[in-house]
Amino acid sequence: MILITGGAGFIGANFVLDWLADSDEPVINLDKLTYAGNLHNLASIEGDARHLFVQGDIGDRALVAGLLAEHRPRAVINFAAESHVDRSIHGPEDFIQTNVVGTFHFLEEIRAYWNAMEGIEKAGFRFLHVSTDEVYGSLGPDDAAFTETTAYAPNSPYSASKAASDHLVRAYHHTYGLPVLTTNCSNNYGPYQFPEKLIPLVMMNAVAGKPLPIYGDGLNVRDWLYVGDHCSAIRAVLAAGKAGEVYNIGGCNEKTNIDVVRTICAMLDALHPGSPVTPHEKLITHVKDRAGHDRRYAIDAHKIERELGWRPQETFETGIRKTVAWYLANPDWVANIATGEYRHWVEKQYGSQA
Ligand code: NAD
Ligand code: DAU
Repeated sequence: MILITGGAGFIGANFVLDWLADSDEPVINLDKLTYAGNLHNLASIEGDARHLFVQGDIGDRALVAGLLAEHRPRAVINFAAESHVDRSIHGPEDFIQTNVVGTFHFLEEIRAYWNAMEGIEKAGFRFLHVSTDEVYGSLGPDDAAFTETTAYAPNSPYSASKAASDHLVRAYHHTYGLPVLTTNCSNNYGPYQFPEKLIPLVMMNAVAGKPLPIYGDGLNVRDWLYVGDHCSAIRAVLAAGKAGEVYNIGGCNEKTNIDVVRTICAMLDALHPGSPVTPHEKLITHVKDRAGHDRRYAIDAHKIERELGWRPQETFETGIRKTVAWYLANPDWVANIATGEYRHWVEKQYGSQA
């Protein structure tokens, strides 16, 4: 079996669902269930004996040691993290605690587990750490895309904490020989994304007739990847990636934020003409920019394509169409996620601007 962490969050839950749709290998899913963890994401596999959910912290060494000893996973995939840049600006501490200290404690237990292995079991073991393109910093309009050898230059408390965890993972390979794989991926979108992130936030607000907040001039660029493509890339890296290597994962879909929001608005005009305000673009509102807002991210994904034969299946147009359709078809999931904590966050972040 495999052990994954953060599997009740956006990407982790998509990964678990895709994994079990594709294979009978069981998954232990360790997740703390922070505000971002949501068991509704896993409702379709409720009662499935191949999925064992455990609520807990990656930094809880006794718990992690017990899970490893009892289940003896052949691989571990670490999705668990605090993941939202704006929250890291308001309060960095949780990011340091989980992404840095938590990853350190987790790695220590993985190292002890792997050290005690022997033979084929030891040789085949892998620890895959899921990271982000944000560790590479910000690009100018004409700069080449990030490669696996681009120097780290994180700009937010979030990206600095992810960079620190990446460095720890690298050091555990270099110093102790732990067979690690690191993936650095661009912006994901798709089903089950918590609506604090741009795409689900815009969709939720648009159908409710609320303002669509665009930070600054809206010309910041992100490289968007459909979450199912990220999951297939992780499966490819786990199956055939070389221990100690880093793989960049990207969608080859650079878009400005304003273009992303306009595309969603146009889709909703066609698919949801009954919204309180149409055309939905009328709701676009420019608000105060994010502090230290990175201007552009772009991923060069040639290495994973060349070495592992992976490339994204979705274009932005096909992926965003699926995503908009999913959110419209799942109003119960959206209603469930709009908890008190979520409303509190919206008030704190956007105040009277949205
Ligand atoms: P998310 O915030 O939706 O989910 C994170 C999950 O981790 C939640 O279920 C949460 O409960 C769990 N978690 C948090 N702290 C924990 C702890 N201490 N112990 C155990 N579980 C804990 O995040 P996401 O968007 O699904 O991102 C998953 C991973 O992918 C993160 O490591 C993130 O940095 C990385 N990533 C995300 C994106 C993106 O666009 N969302 C892109 C590249 C990389
Ligand atoms: O690049 C990968 C990263 O992508 C991941 O590592 C992070 O976990 C993930 O959250 C995401 O970070 P971003 O900051 O790029 O994503 P977010 O959805 O928060 O914002 C996308 C862009 O949209 C960014 O330029 C900020 C802008 N934005 C965001 C929000 C929430 C707005 O203009 N308005 C908003 O209300």
